[in-house]
Amino acid sequence: MNSTIKITKTTNSRLETVDFDNLTFGSTFSDHMFVVDYKDGQWQNPEIVPYGPIQIEPAMMSLHYGQAVFEGMKASKHIDGTPLLMRPELNARRFNLSAERLSMPTIPEELFLEGLHTLIDLDQAWIPPQKGSAMYVRPFMFATDNYIKVGESKTYKFIIITGPVGPYYPKPISLIAEQKYVRAVRGGTGEAKAAGNYAGSLLPARIAREKGYDQVMWMDGHDFEYIEEVGTMNIFFVMYNKVYTPATDGSILKGTTRQSVITLLRDEGYEVFEKPISIHEVLEAYDKGELQEVFGTGTAVVVAKVNKLAYRDRVLEFPLENLKVGNWVKAQIDGLRAGTIEDTRGWIVPVKSATLV
Ligand code: COI
Repeated sequence: MNSTIKITKTTNSRLETVDFDNLTFGSTFSDHMFVVDYKDGQWQNPEIVPYGPIQIEPAMMSLHYGQAVFEGMKASKHIDGTPLLMRPELNARRFNLSAERLSMPTIPEELFLEGLHTLIDLDQAWIPPQKGSAMYVRPFMFATDNYIKVGESKTYKFIIITGPVGPYYPKPISLIAEQKYVRAVRGGTGEAKAAGNYAGSLLPARIAREKGYDQVMWMDGHDFEYIEEVGTMNIFFVMYNKVYTPATDGSILKGTTRQSVITLLRDEGYEVFEKPISIHEVLEAYDKGELQEVFGTGTAVVVAKVNKLAYRDRVLEFPLENLKVGNWVKAQIDGLRAGTIEDTRGWIVPVKSATLV
């Protein structure tokens, strides 16, 4: 596999400095990164180099106009030590859909996956074996022309960095339904994993924190009536013993974990509905004692338990001992990622060894 990728290994590994028993999320980076440049209409010079600073100019377009997209993935270890990925092709495909929405070049899936496998193979010692921990993988692309007229860049950089992470939300989280700001509207960039979507979420997230809530639950941009997603995850409700999640109709991120969770639940016999979910349906179910669980799903969070949801003057609280569906699906994903649950769907992909491919 490494025939086209030039590899320069670090001479100064930082691995020994990492405390794998006390990992936080997102602040530790593995020794290497994969980098490939787009210029003259093609991707060129893929290489793996030691993780470190990159040189940019102040006029670099992505700093001004936000042509930047990314993915989130996780690598884990099978109990026999083999490094594994889960459905990486979904991320490669979604990455290109995001790129297209931002008028950026797509990256051949084979190059995305080759860079990914080669990098993770090289840094596999950075995958934490501890339960609840994993290697987080962040592929991203940004415009690199130095030019400040509004327009598309002609050059881009695609990079993959990785790092060992602990749980994103170590504790159950509380949500507040946003009533002023919107994340996205149909026809906007909400379906893409665009960096700017997250920038716009930071102020409402801070206000939510100041009110005592961990995250914002985004509502539709028209009437603030229909539930969309949460800042870092898609959302699921268990009501009347059935599972509901908002339909992804143009403004909601098509989560890869969301997709897997729906399949796992349906295969297990749960009725799962993807449909517009009004906040008033949720309140009604709660008032009737029929709202059994709320949980979020995402690569970073896996399955996050929600213990409180505020909407205007209502505060709904959920006893976490009831989280039957959420706990089951989390155990499934964790088990698949650790190889303790048999993968009957071909979702789990062993990381290819650079010398064998
Ligand atoms: C992920 O779940 O991987 C994400 O990209 C969401 C967030 C951490 C930005």
